[in-house]
Amino acid sequence: VTAAGNHGAAMDGIYRFQRHFYDVTRRYYLLGRDRLIAHLAVPHGGTVLEIGCGTARNLIRVAQRHPDCLCYGLDISSVMLAKAQANVDRAGLDHRIVLARADATDFDAGALFGQAAFDRVYASYTLSMIPDWRAAMEQACQALRPGGSFHIVDFGQQERLPDWFKALLRAWLDRFSVTPRAALIEHGLNLAAEQAWLGEAKRLYRGYAWAMVLTRPVNPTRQDSRSPSTN
Ligand SMILES: C[S@@+](CC[C@H](N)C(=O)[O-])C[C@H]1O[C@@H](n2cnc3c(N)ncnc32)[C@H](O)[C@@H]1O
Repeated sequence: VTAAGNHGAAMDGIYRFQRHFYDVTRRYYLLGRDRLIAHLAVPHGGTVLEIGCGTARNLIRVAQRHPDCLCYGLDISSVMLAKAQANVDRAGLDHRIVLARADATDFDAGALFGQAAFDRVYASYTLSMIPDWRAAMEQACQALRPGGSFHIVDFGQQERLPDWFKALLRAWLDRFSVTPRAALIEHGLNLAAEQAWLGEAKRLYRGYAWAMVLTRPVNPTRQDSRSPSTN
């Protein structure tokens, strides 16, 4: 069994029963998801990919907010995807939301969706569940069109919250294999800087959640613009 196979089975184990009450319970602690959706600014007729789409709760909101966009979602858990597909069908959005099973750390969007690059890619409370979250971030960046942006919201380090709250939250998250990534912002900003992209990070709710946007410029990078033909 591959590492991805093991991880997929682990996620299925967590969500087999959880999926039925997932959306009702998570609304209270996956904070900042609607903020991310409100800031997506999907271009007219644009394409959007969610990494680790879960129940498709977010994708349905994005599709409703932007009636001419096309949405795609991938997730490693087949039980979550079954729930997601039922939700998409119930919302009457199956013609504009396409779902596929894939590992965020190693996927081929062209083969999965017939669409290799997107205007917006986002990951909401997903990187904290992926052991190789750095690889997932790099894959997400590779799936961006020029001018596109990669949006992240996830658990922060609760840096301005009381220690007792932090301890309770960490114990709760451990039960679901969730690990807030202390190096998330640093890694994201480095990733942006390496490619001469714009990187912006924000700490929300006293560090309960962290939000980040990495934007790929429309024009070639500084290095590219110094092309040999101009010498
Ligand atoms: C906490 S849920 C968040 C779901 C959704 N993004 C939301 O905001 O409601 C995390 C999701 O990431 C998925 N996931 C975990 N590891 C993954 C991986 N390596 N590749 C793709 N999806 C993964 C899980 O199956 C789960 O559906």
